[in-house]
Amino acid sequence: MHATICDMITDLVQNAIEARATEITLEVKETKTNLKFVIADNGKGMSAVVLEKAKDPYYTDGQKHRYRKVGLGLPFLFQTAEMTGGKAAITSKEGEGTTVTFNVDPTNVDLPAFGNFTTAAVALMSYEFEGNLSIERSAQNKSYSVNKNELVEALGNLNELESLTLLKQFIASQEEDLEAL
Ligand SMILES: Nc1ncnc2c1ncn2[C@@H]1O[C@H](COP(=O)(O)OP(=O)(O)O)[C@@H](O)[C@H]1O
Ligand SMILES: [Mg+2]
Repeated sequence: MHATICDMITDLVQNAIEARATEITLEVKETKTNLKFVIADNGKGMSAVVLEKAKDPYYTDGQKHRYRKVGLGLPFLFQTAEMTGGKAAITSKEGEGTTVTFNVDPTNVDLPAFGNFTTAAVALMSYEFEGNLSIERSAQNKSYSVNKNELVEALGNLNELESLTLLKQFIASQEEDLEAL
């Protein structure tokens, strides 16, 4: 398996969607010494018992994947933290929502590759669910933010090829501006 940081982020946002969140925020901030991401949702949340179980690689709620018994999202996050000296944390409250935070030294050799953020963001923004997703992204001292409601207003249905192409161009150009440092 060659999961990237972006795969991990996608998976965690997917969890928020599966928890029926209507507001999801994804923050991805890089500096030379720290890579941070935070996924916050107002979905169904977890009790302390479920939260403890959710960190176990052999736990899944038994409903989502009828043919796969092993959850990957949260355990993979904690394993990666352990391998890299990073810090992963989850806070959750039943009926209120969940926040997942990860901080790591981006130069750590055991860290998976970052992956392609444009691809991940486009996939998440065009994923059909009832709710808003906001992305706040920064690298060094440059930043941009996008949110799904505004994108839909500007581009129309994000599942149509034309809108999707524009969305991809837009996010790619924002990402390029971050890199052009
Ligand atoms: N954001 C979230 N809100 C509510 N419950 C969550 C959230 N993230 C994870 N969970 C719970 O933790 C379990 C394990 O998540 P995960 O490790 O991603 O495995 P999977 O999604 O395959 O079940 C989920 O089945 C769900 O019950
Ligand atoms: Mg999951």
